[in-house]
Amino acid sequence: MASVKLVGIRKIYEDGSRTHPAVRDLDLEIADGELMVLVGPSGCGKSTTLRMIAGLESISGGELFIGGRRVNEVAAKDRDIAMVFQNYALYPHMTAYQNMAFALTLKKLPKTEVQERVRDAARVLAIESLLERRPRQMSGGERQRVALGRALVRQPQVFLFDEPLSNLDAKLRVQMRREIARLHQQLETTMIYVTHDQVEAMTLGDRIAVLHRGELQQVDTPGALYERPRNSFVASFIGTPPMNLVEGAIVDRGSAFSPRDGAFSVSLGPRWAETMRGRDGEAVVLGIRPEDLRLARATGETPSAGSEARVDLVELLGGEALVHLSAGATELTARIPTPVPSTGDRLLLHFSPERLQLFSAANGARLEPAPE
Ligand SMILES: Nc1ncnc2c1ncn2[C@@H]1O[C@H](COP(=O)(O)OP(=O)(O)O)[C@@H](O)[C@H]1O
Ligand SMILES: [Mg+2]
Repeated sequence: MASVKLVGIRKIYEDGSRTHPAVRDLDLEIADGELMVLVGPSGCGKSTTLRMIAGLESISGGELFIGGRRVNEVAAKDRDIAMVFQNYALYPHMTAYQNMAFALTLKKLPKTEVQERVRDAARVLAIESLLERRPRQMSGGERQRVALGRALVRQPQVFLFDEPLSNLDAKLRVQMRREIARLHQQLETTMIYVTHDQVEAMTLGDRIAVLHRGELQQVDTPGALYERPRNSFVASFIGTPPMNLVEGAIVDRGSAFSPRDGAFSVSLGPRWAETMRGRDGEAVVLGIRPEDLRLARATGETPSAGSEARVDLVELLGGEALVHLSAGATELTARIPTPVPSTGDRLLLHFSPERLQLFSAANGARLEPAPE
């Protein structure tokens, strides 16, 4: 087992005369035994990062350490890592057993040891009954298990996963995700897991590194990413449905927020007012999670910081519902328990100052209210 440390890691692809930075100055430390998830939209540099760690891609700049050893120039086969890909690429003419044993046989391990390791991995993955089958005689989930087994038998210092579950259907994906989490608990081996799916990231990672356009945005626990995103990109990327983000400005001597078209006003409360005093007119982005947006009937008692909105669409999810609303040009989504309002209803919005977040419109950075 080993830690993995990236110091200012960079990847620049040369495309003829054009250069394309795919990973920019990435600093990241994965502790021995940790499961770190790299997440971000397609093209943000996840696979490139993983491939540089594996030694499948050259490193343009920075330093890479595995188990404290600098490995920039060490060949892939000498890095003691195992990688699992999305397209599991099993040898079609070999049985599951042969596929799993292949790398060990190449390494000239004694036959009894090969047998033992394959049996152990097969037991852990519950595929003992499949060992004599060829890939075409197996389902997608079974094949992916064999691919996992092929990595397991190598007993590497670090496991790398590049979207290993993307080819599976939704139900199987959830099941395999739990198995990988269980495997990690059982083996206590360092794992780096790449996915574009933030739900997968949130349910799997001890910590999550969010990448965007080749740059690291934030490394944190799932809870911290959700509660305190460092910028508006992370705020929008983590969470389903995503956080409502509204562009607007500070008004009323720092005490309120108003969207661009001035359709409503949100009272920010004393802590924000202290931070925002004298910043009237400053462009900011207000963020509020769907579950934090409160709705009230337009008649009856009026919340102090209310603003009217129209219900455009209600999506029932069982015990709760997503309510899509518009207030002027602003579209918002609320997640509320049933019973639900009807399309066309007019409701009052309430933004709790304790739950709303503000980001700079200039650079997306999180702003902080004055301490309590
Ligand atoms: N071999 C390559 N040559 C040139 N550009 C590449 C190559 N591989 C990836 N890229 C580019 O680098 C960026 C990051 O790609 P990748 O790491 O595959 O993203 P992800 O895995 O996050 O979807 C993308 O813009 C992609 O087009
Ligand atoms: Mg990729």
